[in-house]
Amino acid sequence: MRRRVAAGWAIAGAGAAAAAWWWTDSAPYPYSQRWILDLPLPFLTNRRLDALLGARPGERVLEIGPGTGLQALHVAGQLGQAGRLDIVDIQRSMLDHVLRRAAARDVTAIVATQADASALPFPDASFDAAYLVTVLGEIPNPAAAISELRRVLKPAGRLVVGECFDRHFVPLVTLLHYANAAGLTLGARLGPPACYLAQLRPQQWPDSTPG
Ligand SMILES: C[S@@+](CC[C@H](N)C(=O)[O-])C[C@H]1O[C@@H](n2cnc3c(N)ncnc32)[C@H](O)[C@@H]1O
Repeated sequence: MRRRVAAGWAIAGAGAAAAAWWWTDSAPYPYSQRWILDLPLPFLTNRRLDALLGARPGERVLEIGPGTGLQALHVAGQLGQAGRLDIVDIQRSMLDHVLRRAAARDVTAIVATQADASALPFPDASFDAAYLVTVLGEIPNPAAAISELRRVLKPAGRLVVGECFDRHFVPLVTLLHYANAAGLTLGARLGPPACYLAQLRPQQWPDSTPG
C-alpha cells in the first residue's frame, strides 16, 4: 500500500514537472531540430505575412528569430537593390544557416546580427517594418521585446507578430497587453485565435491622425 502511494506521488510529481516545463520553459528552438522549421505552418503563410507587412522595394525591414529562413528568404526578395532585411537571432547557428541559404540563391540584401530581442542593437526609428513568427513566446521577456520593436520602428512602421498554438504560444489578448503598454495598437489580424498573424501600428501613426 505504502509503495503504491509513493508511486502515485512520483507520477504526480513527474506530471507536475512536465506541465511546468511545457508552460514555462522558454529555451530557444534547438538548431538540431531545424528541419521542422522548413515545414509551412497552417494559417501563418508567407502570403498572409505579405498582406500585413506590406514590404516594398527600398525599405529596411527587421526580422526577429528567422530560424532557417522560411520567411526571411521570401521577404528579402521583395526589398530590391536599395532595400535591406536585418535578421536578429539569439543563436548564431540559425543566422549562419539563413546566410548560407541566401548566398546559394544570390540574395544579398540580408544582414545578420546575433542579439537578444529584448535589447536590440539599433537606433530608434531604424525600420519601416518588422516581424516575428512563432518567436515571441520563446523570448524570456516578451514585453521588453515588443517595447524594443516599437522603439526601433519608424512612426508609420508596421509590426507583424505570428503565433500558433504550441507550448510557447502567446494568445492575442496577451500580445495586445504588451503592445498597448509599448504604444502599439492592433491594425489587422488574419487567421483564427489559435494561429494568428497580427499587425500592430504605432498609436500615433499618420493614417490615424485626424484631418
Ligand atoms: C520556432 S523558431 C521560428 C523560426 C521562424 N520564424 C519560423 O517561423 O520558421 C524561433 C526562433 O527564435 C529565435 N529566438 C529565440 N529566443 C530569442 C531571443 N531572445 N532573441 C532573438 N531570437 C530568439 C530562435 O533561435 C529561433 O531561431
